[in-house]
Amino acid sequence: MILNIAVLPGDGIGPEVTRQAVKILKAVGETYNHTFNFHEEIIGAVAIDKFGNPLPDKTIELCLKSDAVLFGAIGDPKYDNDPTAKVRPEQGLLKLRKSLGLYANIRPIKAYPTLLEKSPLKKDRIEGVDFIIFRELTGGIYFGEKILSDDGSYASDLCEYSEIEIERIAHLAFKTARKRKKKVTLVDKANVLETSRLWRKITTHIAKSYPDIQLDFLFIDNAAMQLILNPGQFDVILTENMFGDIISDEGSVIGGSIGLLASASIGDENALFEPIHGSYPQAKNKDIANPIASILSAAMLLEHFKLYEEAKAVTKAIERSLELNIVTPDLNVESKYGTKKVGNFIADYIANSDDINYNQ
Ligand code: IPM
Ligand code: MN
Repeated sequence: MILNIAVLPGDGIGPEVTRQAVKILKAVGETYNHTFNFHEEIIGAVAIDKFGNPLPDKTIELCLKSDAVLFGAIGDPKYDNDPTAKVRPEQGLLKLRKSLGLYANIRPIKAYPTLLEKSPLKKDRIEGVDFIIFRELTGGIYFGEKILSDDGSYASDLCEYSEIEIERIAHLAFKTARKRKKKVTLVDKANVLETSRLWRKITTHIAKSYPDIQLDFLFIDNAAMQLILNPGQFDVILTENMFGDIISDEGSVIGGSIGLLASASIGDENALFEPIHGSYPQAKNKDIANPIASILSAAMLLEHFKLYEEAKAVTKAIERSLELNIVTPDLNVESKYGTKKVGNFIADYIANSDDINYNQ
């Protein structure tokens, strides 16, 4: 298969983790005879520094003509505490999601058997946990009208949803549940929000075409509690943009590190793959950032193109690195392995299914 992949490393640790994911895709390409072509562009704070624009046209153009986008991370502390900043790195990512029509953000959450002790949650609570969040990504309060009054004393963000925005992601969630434990949980705040009531109405209607799938409802506040109280109850969580943003970070605690969570952002024409973690500026260039979230995002890219055997080889290599404790310090404080070495191990394992040189 020939794939043209746009690589947007972004800010902070983005470049170093993305480099590992590219290394892994190259190893897959060589081992399984695929041609993966990589083209890099800038986004985020680095793009503001260079062009005053977090998402230069050249970057959008590259993404639009590529088969897939591999994204690193976005954000820089110099913009975080400056309420007067006119442009922000995050706007680049939001605009990219919108321009590519990436309405479904898919975030799998899993408790790896070898990492059960790493999670602050009790082992018996998280053993076997395996669910997937479908977060709507191009609507809701993130994209509604924003108002800031001239004197700065009033602000408003509008939360809007239309039928079509809910329908298309709901279908994806139900279809995925069909291949899994056949349960969809809609997370909302339907006791308060009109948009949530619309989500319930439309999702209930769609559920009729999936009679084999059980549809449950949970309010977001309760869901936040259930997620750490009894995460094993979930299979597919379907939710709107902001609730999905919040509960996916919460869910990352289950796996023991946010450095393990990957995501795919899918639209009808385009697809982007990114770790769910941020730019972690404190770790930049220290060779300590966990590359696994980025590498797992690359595995999701392979799956998206139906390269299932290849994706499996990547996840198997990751599992092996976890078993052998070839991990970054977020998973093992005494680790002598850095970002690059973890990436090298995984790439070599894919090419050789061999770990002899690394376990000493
Ligand atoms: C995420 C991030 C983004 C979001 C930020 C960087 C805009 O937190 O992908 O979860 O809120 O969607
Ligand atoms: Mn987030």
